[in-house]
Amino acid sequence: MPDKRNFPDIALSEHGLIPLPLEERPGMLWVLSDPDGSLELGSYLDGVHPELGNYQLGDWVLYERRVLHRDINWKMPIDTFLEPYHFASLHTNTVAPIFYPNVCLFEGHGPRHWMAVARKNIASLRDKPESEWGFVKHKAISYQLFPNTIFTIQADHVETRRVFPVKDKVDQCVIYFDCYVPEPVTSDKAKRYWDANIDLAIRTVDAEDIAIQTEMERNFLSGAMEYMLVGQNEPALAHFHLALERAMGAD
Ligand SMILES: [Fe+2]
Repeated sequence: MPDKRNFPDIALSEHGLIPLPLEERPGMLWVLSDPDGSLELGSYLDGVHPELGNYQLGDWVLYERRVLHRDINWKMPIDTFLEPYHFASLHTNTVAPIFYPNVCLFEGHGPRHWMAVARKNIASLRDKPESEWGFVKHKAISYQLFPNTIFTIQADHVETRRVFPVKDKVDQCVIYFDCYVPEPVTSDKAKRYWDANIDLAIRTVDAEDIAIQTEMERNFLSGAMEYMLVGQNEPALAHFHLALERAMGAD
């Protein structure tokens, strides 16, 4: 309201945006886009909530956000985080040197799941007593917050990807990629370090995953294939698509 004289006797507090249900837990803000709905986080977070609390998410600092508009279905940027089967062939020079391809830990919780892939530095633990082993710094642990968020604990930082479909466009989506770091970045050295991490994440996902998925999307729309096969080494991928089917009412 640049010129309040045109709106005499108006109480601004009565003309705000539509209030939406909101809850903070655990260190994350959850908002429901339906003003008349109610958040049912208890049942939603069952199973994964105790672990998420251990990461003390409220203390992390948002370092950078990238917003990508891409010509692929919204499920594809999610799919690419649900199996390391493709690391060796697609990510030869980016993340394949860092992670063991085609092996993962997986646990489903209702429509959600977590999945962990092992960094190759985990081999250094072989000669150490088990009491000195650490889980987080030798893995990338991804939580799928069903349906459209992938939340990844990357040893020393946190990455989230939230993907939204574009209305009436089956082959378009918007991806919000956020990188959270342990403390505010004040030195050039820290900035260079985190910028290199983001650069690797973007090169891997945008230049490799999304590039090939854009071709896949065109091929799917051609109608030449009616289905995809999921290998038994890709449990998270199968879990996600079964959960989607169930959410849409399939038996
Ligand atoms: Fe990938």
